Amino acid sequence: MDKLVIQGGNKLCGRIKVSGAKNGSLALMPATILSPGTYHLTNTPNLRDVWTMSRLMTALGAFCELNGNDLFIDTRELNSTEAPYEHVKNMRASFYVLGPLLARFGEARVSLPGGCAWGPRPVDLHIKGMERLGADVKLENGYVVAKAKQLTGTKIHLDISSVGATGNILMAATLAKGTTLISNAATEPEITALARMLVKMGAKIDGIGTAILEIEGVTNLKPVDETTIPDRIEAATYLIATAATGGKIDLENVNPYHLTSVIAKLEECGCEVDVNSDSIFLKAAEKILPTDITTAVYPGIPTDIQPQWTALMAAASEGNSKVIDVVYTDRFKHIPELMRLGADIDVIDNSAFIKAGKKLTGATVMASDLRAGAALVVAALAAEGTSEILRVYHIDRGYESIENKLTALGANIKRVKTELI
Ligand code: UD1
Repeated sequence: MDKLVIQGGNKLCGRIKVSGAKNGSLALMPATILSPGTYHLTNTPNLRDVWTMSRLMTALGAFCELNGNDLFIDTRELNSTEAPYEHVKNMRASFYVLGPLLARFGEARVSLPGGCAWGPRPVDLHIKGMERLGADVKLENGYVVAKAKQLTGTKIHLDISSVGATGNILMAATLAKGTTLISNAATEPEITALARMLVKMGAKIDGIGTAILEIEGVTNLKPVDETTIPDRIEAATYLIATAATGGKIDLENVNPYHLTSVIAKLEECGCEVDVNSDSIFLKAAEKILPTDITTAVYPGIPTDIQPQWTALMAAASEGNSKVIDVVYTDRFKHIPELMRLGADIDVIDNSAFIKAGKKLTGATVMASDLRAGAALVVAALAAEGTSEILRVYHIDRGYESIENKLTALGANIKRVKTELI
């Protein structure tokens, strides 16, 4: 088990390259199930969640090789339709294989993902979507078992604009007979990127990037090579960490257009931000101004930066601020750990009320999930003294070489083996 040891107080300064999007890769990888063949996915982030998806695809019979950031997938011999519990339980995105398996083989048996660290995360919309496409879906021994000789196009309105359900239904609908209309579809860049790859594979999709997707089913698709889009959440995390430490950063290989809401908030709290087509420069404010956020679906503030923003507000030198999460209303496991670092935060329902002004000080803290871990890194970088962050494997799920990138920016950070869990 590893821990991160951070000596806080260094201003992050310098230039780093943003990795490919974790949530982008996790959507592109299952799309390769739809058509037997060989795929080369470039700019794939080399991180735990991608390894988990590779292991699941391998269990299904595919060949997956991640060489640096080049992912090679061969789905010609993929012949199993069962996604076992051991591969699905640790990563909800594993549920993405349901739609493609059902569309290609007419059946799929996928373990229910279960809850996650901060509460239940249902998959009812994925299941309803498959049923609307004509599948017979049953729950057997913790597995979702779906069968359909031929999926048939239909109208599907998503009660909630779910990223995962949109991706799953979209993939299944590419091979359905007739036209499928998904309304209130997610417009997150990772879904748009998935739709673009499907079109390259031969799918017929209208309305890409909008909340209404129209898919005209085709009989078969072809394998392609694709590049993963930059990770907007990783980028936002480094921007926030730089703001929290009073530094200056140049981010490369990023799409600023995917981060407009976050950039607006960073400017509102006093930071100077300049963007180019694929880079972002940020100079931290002398004094971070208290700035409220409310999460929303894209292009709003992503829930995946809520914990890091809370850490930034807690590290500010004065003022009260409020952080509201309407996407995951109970995503506040990071708060007690931030309080161990000296933060003053009250949580009421889905809102965190932060009183800044107390200097954060180093402590031993524990990451409870990926973004909670990222928030602890932000706070520890801004704190006085040494912090130890346990359960780094959560952070490794979504941040490629985090200690190397932060070291390149001048942070004092080490990864150390520990007996503590
Ligand atoms: C994806 C992201 C995750 C991000 C989340 C919200 C991936 C791999 N993960 O997760 O990092 O935090 O989007 O931007 O891309 N819901 C239901 N029923 C369902 C599905 C979802 O009620 O069947 C609810 C969820 O509980 C949540 C909301 O819909 O309140 C949004 O969840 P969703 O967009 O589906 O998140 P994920 O796709 O799991």
